[in-house]
Amino acid sequence: MRVLLMIALLCAAPMARATDGGQDRVVRIHAPDVLVETGLMRHILPRFSLKTGQRVVLVDDPAGADLRLGAQGAPLFQGMGQVWALEIATPDDPGTARLVGWLTGTVGTRTILGFAPDGTVLFQPPDRVEVAKAPVRIDGDAKAGHTISRVKCGRCHAVDAAGRKTDIGSTPSFFVLRSLPDWDQRFAAFYALNPHPAFTQVPEVTPPFPIDRPSPIVPIAITLDELEAVMAYVAVIDAADLGAPLAHQ
Ligand code: HEC
Repeated sequence: MRVLLMIALLCAAPMARATDGGQDRVVRIHAPDVLVETGLMRHILPRFSLKTGQRVVLVDDPAGADLRLGAQGAPLFQGMGQVWALEIATPDDPGTARLVGWLTGTVGTRTILGFAPDGTVLFQPPDRVEVAKAPVRIDGDAKAGHTISRVKCGRCHAVDAAGRKTDIGSTPSFFVLRSLPDWDQRFAAFYALNPHPAFTQVPEVTPPFPIDRPSPIVPIAITLDELEAVMAYVAVIDAADLGAPLAHQ
C-alpha cells in the first residue's frame, strides 16, 4: 500500500506545474502506519502537489523526513484516538515551508477535516474536545439576539425555524453555522469575514466604507453589544444535524 501510494504521488507530480521555478527538491513527510492506513495521506498530498507544484513523498524512516506527523510538535488535528502534531525537521527549506503553510492554512485544514472515507469524518480540529467540554460562556440576551438576527441577518440567512430551509442554498443558515466547531469565533468576527465587510459597519470597530466603494446594498450597522446578543441567541439554537461538521462550504 505504501509503495503504491509513492508511485501514485510520483506519477501525479509531473502533472503539477512548478509555480515559482527551481523547486525540484522533493519534500519528505513521515506518518505512522495507523494514519497512513486511513488513506489520509493519499487524500491530501496529491491535492497539495497539484495546487502548488511542490513534489512530496511519504517516507518510512522518520529520521530522514522533513516533516513528521505524530505525537511531537504543534497539534494539527485529532482523530484515531490521538492528537496529531506536526514536527518540522527542516524549517528553512522552502518546500517544507510551503507544505507546512498549506497544512496549517485554510485549504489544508479543510482538506484534512473534510476527509471522510465511506462518508465518515475521521478527523477534527485539535482543540475540539476542549471546546466541547468548556461550557460556551457568552453574555448577552438571547431573546434580543433573536430579534436582532431577524432584522439584521435574516435578509440572507435563515436565522430561525420560520426561515429554516432544508436546503443550505448559497447562504448558510444559522443552524448550519452553529454546527461548526468554531462557530463562536466566526460570529465574533463575522463583520471581517466575506461577504460582510462590503456592507457591514460596527461603530468604533470597522472603518467607514471607502468613498469610491460605498456599500452595494442597504448596509447593516451592528454594535458589539448587539453582536453579543446575536451570539447568545445562536448559542441556544440547535445545530443543524448535517452528519458532517464541514458541510458548510
Ligand atoms: C447580504 C447578505 C448577508 C447578510 C445581511 C448577512 N450575511 Fe452572513 N453571510 C452571507 C453569505 C453569503 C455568507 C457565506 C459566505 C461563504 O460561505 O463564503 C455568510 C456567512 C456568514 C458567517 C460565516 C462566515 C465564515 O466565513 O465562516 C457568519 C458567522 C455570518 N454570515 C454571520 C452573519 C450575521 C451575524 C449577520 C447579521 C448581523 C449576517 N451574517 C448578515 C451573507 C449575509
